[in-house]
Amino acid sequence: MSQRNPEAVDQTLAPFFDGLLAYRDAGIVPYSTPGHKLGNGAPAEMVEAFGQAALGLDIPNGGGVDDTHRTRNMQPQAERLAAAAWGAEDAAFLVNGSSTGNIAFLLATCQAGETVLVARNLHTSLLSGLILSGARPAYLYPDVHPEFNLTLDVSVESVRLGLDQHPDAKAVALISPSYTGVSADLPQIASLCRERGVMLFVDEAWGPHFPFHHALPPGAVQAGASAAVTSIHKLLAGLTQSSLMTFGGDLITRDEVAPAISLIETTSPSAMIAASIDAARRQMALNGHELLERTIELSLDARSKLGEIDGVRIIGPDVIEGRPGAGFDPTRIMIDLQHLGLTGFQAEDLLRNHARIGVEMSDLTGVIVHITIGDDRQSVEHLIRGIRWLAESDSALAPAGELISPSLRSSGSAIFSAIPRITPREAAFGQTRAVPLRKAIGEISSEIVTPYPPGIPVVAPGDELTSTCVDYLEEAAAAGMYISGPRDASLQTIRIVQKS
Ligand SMILES: Cc1ncc(COP(=O)(O)O)c(C=O)c1O
Repeated sequence: MSQRNPEAVDQTLAPFFDGLLAYRDAGIVPYSTPGHKLGNGAPAEMVEAFGQAALGLDIPNGGGVDDTHRTRNMQPQAERLAAAAWGAEDAAFLVNGSSTGNIAFLLATCQAGETVLVARNLHTSLLSGLILSGARPAYLYPDVHPEFNLTLDVSVESVRLGLDQHPDAKAVALISPSYTGVSADLPQIASLCRERGVMLFVDEAWGPHFPFHHALPPGAVQAGASAAVTSIHKLLAGLTQSSLMTFGGDLITRDEVAPAISLIETTSPSAMIAASIDAARRQMALNGHELLERTIELSLDARSKLGEIDGVRIIGPDVIEGRPGAGFDPTRIMIDLQHLGLTGFQAEDLLRNHARIGVEMSDLTGVIVHITIGDDRQSVEHLIRGIRWLAESDSALAPAGELISPSLRSSGSAIFSAIPRITPREAAFGQTRAVPLRKAIGEISSEIVTPYPPGIPVVAPGDELTSTCVDYLEEAAAAGMYISGPRDASLQTIRIVQKS
């Protein structure tokens, strides 16, 4: 293993961020990209909106910040510091988001036709990785909370069973925490994978803050994963698209994944995005505990005050009761509005247009908001006022009962009823045609179909559609669930693989 992190590290340094400032201060006149040349060629409205300071720092990495095209020292130094901060042995900056890391991991580790155990609550970028690599997924199904219709974790037993059934699996790829903030028992799963000599990869896009506070679940690589990817931009101070891939143990190294990252990442990585990873890392390494202490306190306060509003339910850590080893992120607040007789979609629009509140996500039953290190007492009060207004306003209709019928509350039987038959690559790149949904029973889908809630692909490319699954999708579409993925979002039709 390339041990890139042997020396003691000084977390007060930010070599890449400081390098960017030093480049700016050196007054070098660029005869290189970008064409706006430090803002000089930018239209006045762009300078006014973005600020000269930002445009003056908008240079590509390489040939600029990192000295010249040949000497590239600052980024490796900054990555070593990030590895140490996240409790990893090695790390790679990603400037096209965690999506890059998900795709690169599968490209680097799986040949076409090889099996990988993948959690079924996978993000589309992991599906892109399956399509591009040609790997054969053996899905691990997370448990679903029957009352709230939300995805929980993939259990240790489910991983054990998967490994028993697929002893040839190249890797286990999990999503932890889930989009709903529930994390898996990674220490146990990592130790199981280690026993079997199989890599554990964790899509930890929603957990960049975990290693910095003891009240949060452990970070994935700290817990023993071989590699993980986390979005610095999602919940920390990094600019949009900034992410980090971390590595631990000796089953996979950064050097082995680096060529796959190069294959898919832009050749003009933004120096500002990379510098923001460096600055966010220094901030968290030096002050993360204190910042998160305050964030968690604000989140708990918001949860309790929001939960007192009539008709509003806050989904809490009781969803992981009886699930040993599972964790819950209190900063992710799922607000169930079903008893107000409002869909989450309506609530999102009302909150945005009338209460100046932008939510993270809405679905049929409610909205998700985050409290992060960027919040304060005032912003939390603003949220509480907005939700209180929503509950009291005329727009909240008389309680219409539950929006999701009992048959749409699946504990897994309907949403996991499609049967994987061929690889996502075979399905995505084969000849396809659109057919009416009901006619697709027994056919193989070339599309992904993800209704919200619970936001899990009910159909993935390569799956055979069953009648249970089609019944569920028809009901989901009729109930007004947002359905992500298919070309025909109304689900009148679905694209299937044409038989040869
Ligand atoms: C579970 C999960 N993984 C990966 C991603 C992709 O992350 P990024 O936006 O950093 O590419 C997302 C995005 O929402 C996600 O929810």
